[in-house]
Amino acid sequence: MVQFSQAFAAILLATGVVAHPGGNINKEIMRRQAHLDHPQRRTVQSCKRDLVESGWVREQHMRREARLHELRVAAGFAKPHELVRRDPAEAEANYGEAAACTLDPEATEGPYWVSGELIRQDILTGEKGVVVHLDINVIDTTGCKPVTNAYVEMWGCNATGVYTGVAAKGNGDGSKSAITTNALRGLQPTAQNGTATFITLIPGHYVGRANHLHTIIHHGATLLPNNTISGGTISHVGQFYVDQTMLTEVEKTTPYSTNKQTQTKNAQDALFNMGKQGGDDPVLKISRIGSKVEDGLYATIDVGVNPKARQNPQPVNMWTDKGGIAIPNSPWAGYPDSCRYCGGGFRPPTE
Ligand SMILES: *[C@@H]1O[C@H](CO)[C@@H](O)[C@H](O)[C@H]1NC(C)=O
Ligand SMILES: *[C@@H]1O[C@H](CO)[C@@H](O)[C@H](O)[C@H]1NC(C)=O
Ligand SMILES: *[C@@H]1O[C@H](CO)[C@@H](O)[C@H](O)[C@H]1NC(C)=O
Repeated sequence: MVQFSQAFAAILLATGVVAHPGGNINKEIMRRQAHLDHPQRRTVQSCKRDLVESGWVREQHMRREARLHELRVAAGFAKPHELVRRDPAEAEANYGEAAACTLDPEATEGPYWVSGELIRQDILTGEKGVVVHLDINVIDTTGCKPVTNAYVEMWGCNATGVYTGVAAKGNGDGSKSAITTNALRGLQPTAQNGTATFITLIPGHYVGRANHLHTIIHHGATLLPNNTISGGTISHVGQFYVDQTMLTEVEKTTPYSTNKQTQTKNAQDALFNMGKQGGDDPVLKISRIGSKVEDGLYATIDVGVNPKARQNPQPVNMWTDKGGIAIPNSPWAGYPDSCRYCGGGFRPPTE
C-alpha cells in the first residue's frame, strides 16, 4: 500500500497538477503521504471494539437518526411519530467504514485559512446553495474515547467556488468584496460526547480541486469574551468530500450551475484519491431531508485524532470586527502569484 501510494504521488508530482487556481498541490500531496507513512498512524476503525463496547456507537447512531428525523419533521417531510429506526447492531457492525482519520494532517489547510473566526453553529451568513447540517464526531484514537473539549473549525468556498475572508486573484471570480464577509466559516465546541455541529452549504467547485470542506481541530484553546478562541494546539488539518452522484445533483441546481470555473470530479482529484488510502474515508455520509437536494441535507462523519499531535497550519488572514486583515509574513501571502508555499520541491513538514 505504501509503495503503491508513493508511486502514485510520484506520478502526480510529475504531472504538476494545479490546485487552488494558479497554484499546485505538491505540498499537499507530500503532507498526505507523510501522514500515510507515519508509523503511529491509527484509524477510527482501530477503536471500533472499544467504541462499540462502551455503547457510544449505538448511542451516536440513535442520536443521529433522531436528529435527521427532527430535521425532516421541521421541514414538513415527516410527522413526529413516523421515526423508523434501523437496527443499531447494523450500525455497530459497519462502524468506522466512513471515517476520516489522522495523526498527522490529512491534507493541507490550503492558502485560504482565516484565523480568528467566530464560534457559531450556523455559518451561512446569507450565502445561497444546498444547505447541509453537518454532524462531526471527534475521537481520540490513542485512548479510543470521544474528544469532549475541542473546537472544530470549518470553512468552505461558496456555491460558485469563492472563499470569503480573502481577496486574491485566484480565488474564484477574484472578487474584492469577499474579504468583507466571514460567511461559511466558523467554529463549534465538541460537546459531552465528542460532537460538533454546523449549518453550512455544500461547497461549490473551483479550478483544479474536487468540491471539499476544510477542517481544523483545536485543543486547549481559551474562549475569549468576543466569542472567538485563542491559543491551544491543532492536532488535525483535513478535508471532507461529497459523493460524486450527490455532487452532480447539487451542481445542477442554482446558483451552483452558474459557476464558470472548470469542475474537477472526485476521481480526478489527487488529494481526494490519497484521502481514501490507508483505510481512511473522508467522504461525508449524506442523507436527504426532503425529496430534492434543495430541501437540505444531513451529513455525518467521525474524525480520529491524536489530541497530542501538533500541526502548524498557517492562516493567510485574520477575521476581525473590521473584516479580514492580512497576517504579516504569512507563507501563503501573495498566493497564487508568489508565496513561500507556492511551487514545487516541498518536503513534508517535520513538526
Ligand atoms: C460567492 O462569493 C463571491 C465573492 O463574494 C460573489 O461574487 C458570488 O456572487 C458568490 N456566489 C454566490 C452564489 O452568491
Ligand atoms: C452523552 O452520553 C451519555 C452517556 O454516555 C448520555 O447519557 C448523554 O445523554 C449524552 N449526551 C449528549 C449531549 O448527547
Ligand atoms: C476578539 O478579541 C481578540 C482579543 O482582543 C481580538 O484580537 C480579535 O480581533 C477580536 N475578534 C473580533 C472578531 O472582534
